[in-house]
Amino acid sequence: MSVTLFDPLQLGDIALSNRVVMAPMTRSRASEGDMPNDQMVEYYRQRATAGLIITEGVHPSKTGKGYCRTPGLFTDAQVAGWRKVTDAVHAEGGKIVAQLMHVGRVAARPNKDADAETVAPSAIRANVQLYTDSAGMVATEMPRALETREIPGVIAEYAHSARCAMAAGFDGVELHCASGYLPAQFLHSSSNQRTDAYGGSVLNRIRFVVETLEALAGAIGAGKVGYRICPGNPFNDVKDDNPAETFGALLAATANMGLSYLHAIQMPQLGIDCQALARPLFRNNLIINESFDLEKGRQALADGQADAVAYGRLYISNPDLVRRFREGLPLARFDPNTLYTLGGKGYIDYPPAP
Ligand SMILES: Cc1cc2nc3c(=O)[nH]c(=O)nc-3n(C[C@H](O)[C@H](O)[C@H](O)COP(=O)(O)O)c2cc1C
Repeated sequence: MSVTLFDPLQLGDIALSNRVVMAPMTRSRASEGDMPNDQMVEYYRQRATAGLIITEGVHPSKTGKGYCRTPGLFTDAQVAGWRKVTDAVHAEGGKIVAQLMHVGRVAARPNKDADAETVAPSAIRANVQLYTDSAGMVATEMPRALETREIPGVIAEYAHSARCAMAAGFDGVELHCASGYLPAQFLHSSSNQRTDAYGGSVLNRIRFVVETLEALAGAIGAGKVGYRICPGNPFNDVKDDNPAETFGALLAATANMGLSYLHAIQMPQLGIDCQALARPLFRNNLIINESFDLEKGRQALADGQADAVAYGRLYISNPDLVRRFREGLPLARFDPNTLYTLGGKGYIDYPPAP
């Protein structure tokens, strides 16, 4: 009998009741102080029948913030706010991990606290525009290149945030190494032009991610730590001379760390078969994502291409996605105009199927 989306899965230390994962999605609903709030509690509670929820990107420090109204996970107040989210998900029998997302240079000045810097591997601006509530679309801020001696401090911020995740009742954390944010800025040769031990050769460019994963594992246990990659994706102005080599080295370096999972975004149009690179190394803990539906997800598991499938956009408007899949119910479409807007509209008002 082949594996199905509805079979349980042990993902490191995290026991999932099914293999339908909710992909991380920024929804920009946090309150003043980058605080989780009651609307966010309700949003995640509604989606708790997923085998695993991966939260929206959460910044591990104020330096790590770059978008508007994103939540943090580094103060006592934020821990207390997230505790309500994790309690609500657990009360419904679900599991939830926090996605740790440090944006590095992908930051707009108006979205940050006045005393929060924008830092990156190198002083190279990301050629993208970001939305701000106060000034609309603006250019990203020119980053300051991190000094070598500062890097352990940035890694320590991640470890602190992971400990906060445990205090808040999360089942684990996911390190966001995709989409051109800080870890990806270290990995890619276009954004990393350092000449110290964190730049230049492939082994040097993967060092930041490897050391951060080691620090996270040291803080909360490797079986509670996953990470997300999308090799070859130029999103947020990153480019690598040889992504298959860079990510192949990263996968090899992390394969025996005992991590909970690898979360691979597979985009065939990028010309890299990430799944083929990862599958021999991450047996029993590979989550795949990008444009899956019920049939494609079913097939991927039946073929042994992955152990679980993450669904993003379908989860916006189908809080009960697992039941809809299981019973073959129709899927609702989401409203693209309310993805990042304030309030409950287009957030917590998508009903379960009748
Ligand atoms: C509104 C929205 C917000 C997103 N925010 C994040 C994020 O915070 N972190 C992340 O890793 N990916 C983020 N993504 C990407 C999704 O996790 C996922 O990779 C993407 O939607 C493709 O999966 P799908 O085809 O199932 O939607 C976001 C996607 C959407 C639509």
